[in-house]
Amino acid sequence: MVLADIAAPYSSVESFIYDRVIAPAVLAMGERIAGELADQISDDARVLDVGCGGGHLALEIAARRPGSKITGLDLAHEQVARAASRASERGLAVRFVQGSALDLPFESGSFDVVTSVASIKHWPDQAAGLRECVRVLAPGGRLVVFEADRGCRLSDAQAFVERWALPRPLRLPALAAFRTWVAGQSIDLDDARELVGGLSLLRTEVRRVPGTPALVLAGSKPA
Ligand SMILES: C[S@@+](CC[C@H](N)C(=O)[O-])C[C@H]1O[C@@H](n2cnc3c(N)ncnc32)[C@H](O)[C@@H]1O
Repeated sequence: MVLADIAAPYSSVESFIYDRVIAPAVLAMGERIAGELADQISDDARVLDVGCGGGHLALEIAARRPGSKITGLDLAHEQVARAASRASERGLAVRFVQGSALDLPFESGSFDVVTSVASIKHWPDQAAGLRECVRVLAPGGRLVVFEADRGCRLSDAQAFVERWALPRPLRLPALAAFRTWVAGQSIDLDDARELVGGLSLLRTEVRRVPGTPALVLAGSKPA
């Protein structure tokens, strides 16, 4: 179970709950995230979303940047199937692949942008997963990772949980669960700085995303 062991694979039930209850809130909060990402993605970019879940963000990017070539990868077969069926419902040509962040099934240098949202806290070895992300980046390519912030403000966590598709009486326990088991088992700014510092990247960025309980970790692979 993911709440008890953050590095355990999602079960079918956890995938389903995440997809229906939380992912829409990530995407809503992700208006900011998708906007920040879209700004960094040229029209013909090759983009990889690692830990893409049900494909919400990958499809949003595909809709905003129709010329780009987007690939989503996730460890959970159910999420990959869900993402692929969403893509076909929306008529978007996005490729979804099952695999692990720790052993990406792609040639080195094959993407212009590698992103990941709310996934690295689950990776059994975050540094190794991030090195894999950098390996598959082309020279000059950009890594942009978002993750829940263990040190997030209560008001930012509240604003996020308010958007979960839950009846109002369940929001308080959901907030406690989010702060304790999700953000509480995630990284903080110091961890993020250490992770980014261990990668050979230029133009690095590690900061909170204002108004959200998230951090962004970014950098460019030397050309
Ligand atoms: C909290 S969900 C985020 C999903 C999506 N990025 C979003 O924002 O809606 C975390 C996702 O990371 C995936 N994941 C966990 N460990 C992984 C790994 N080692 N490699 C690839 N994906 C992984 C899970 O299966 C899950 O779909």
